[in-house]
Amino acid sequence: MYFSKVAGTGSYVPERCLTNFDLERMVDTSDEWIRTRTGIIERHIAREDEATSDLTLKAAWKAMEAAGVGPLDLDLILVGTVTPTMPFPSTACFLQDALQAKNAAAMDISAACSGFIYGLSVADAMLRSGSFRTVLLTGAETLSKITDWTDRNTCILFGDGAGTVVLQKTTGEARILSTHLYADGSRWQELMMPGGGSRHPISVEIIHQNLHKIKMPNGNEVFKMAVRAMEEAAITALKVNGYDVSDVDLFIPHQANARIVHAVAQRLSLPIEKVYVNIDRYGNTSSASIPIALDEAVRNGSLKRGDLVLLGAFGGGLTWGSALIRW
Ligand code: UT7
Repeated sequence: MYFSKVAGTGSYVPERCLTNFDLERMVDTSDEWIRTRTGIIERHIAREDEATSDLTLKAAWKAMEAAGVGPLDLDLILVGTVTPTMPFPSTACFLQDALQAKNAAAMDISAACSGFIYGLSVADAMLRSGSFRTVLLTGAETLSKITDWTDRNTCILFGDGAGTVVLQKTTGEARILSTHLYADGSRWQELMMPGGGSRHPISVEIIHQNLHKIKMPNGNEVFKMAVRAMEEAAITALKVNGYDVSDVDLFIPHQANARIVHAVAQRLSLPIEKVYVNIDRYGNTSSASIPIALDEAVRNGSLKRGDLVLLGAFGGGLTWGSALIRW
């Protein structure tokens, strides 16, 4: 019987850093408001000529180096993103070309901020089936390109970046124990970019109406749903595997808002020292936030071999999910 394991991690964020003080000069906001309401201090912003596939490429090389694999070892490339390099072909195809990963199939996964957990679930199933050996999974976003920089309700939240894992088939103890995925499409209006698809194809009118930018009309509602959904998904992951909250060594949640993270930890009775938080430096990078945090935790020693790692995400769709990993 096969399972899947994380063999290597990597991440990359663009060089340009946008601080809360920079935002104070752009919209009616303050460093104090942003820090206390979200925990964010700064975020990284891609250059005009930098696309999502450019960020993924840098993160991918690091993850492959850590895993000790080369481009020709990859069977499958998955990219979780809502800011693809182009509507089509997939960002995964751009990455496959840039890596010269000639043996790899390639596709994108659209699950907004849950994109990495959704991708992890797909990769895990492919590897467990036995027909794939090595999968490269990236969560990558250039949200700055679809951010409405005049909307203070949303523009203070988002950042750009990419986080990658190389997953391999295994029969060992270090492996993905479970993934749980959920969606509620009836709440699609909570978080969306309405323009640019087949409902509202891109046109001068659509641009004038600003429909090609992120909309989150009820941030506070999304906040409450995120807390509830992430708590429930985490409890399910632990229960299914016969673990208790006290068994968790590290919880890596999607970095949407430090207050959401703290509320989930509190409801789970999980000590805050066991929760990985880096939203202060990156903002909400959507599908990239968990793999960036995972890579940091591996490289700074927060995550050690044998640890029980819980992942949790929530985002547009609405989508949410959890994963439990024996590292
Ligand atoms: O990535 C996955 C999904 N995304 C999320 O999970 C995000 C979830 N939502 C949130 O993180 C929070 O709801 C926000 C950070 C977006 C907003 O925080 P909040 O505590 O829910 O604030 P609010 O929307 O209830 O607004 C409170 C006040 C309002 O003023 P009034 O009506 O009380 O006078 C807003 O107009 O804060 C005002 N406000 C701001 N003030 C200064 C909203 N944005 C800003 C701002 N600067 N940037």
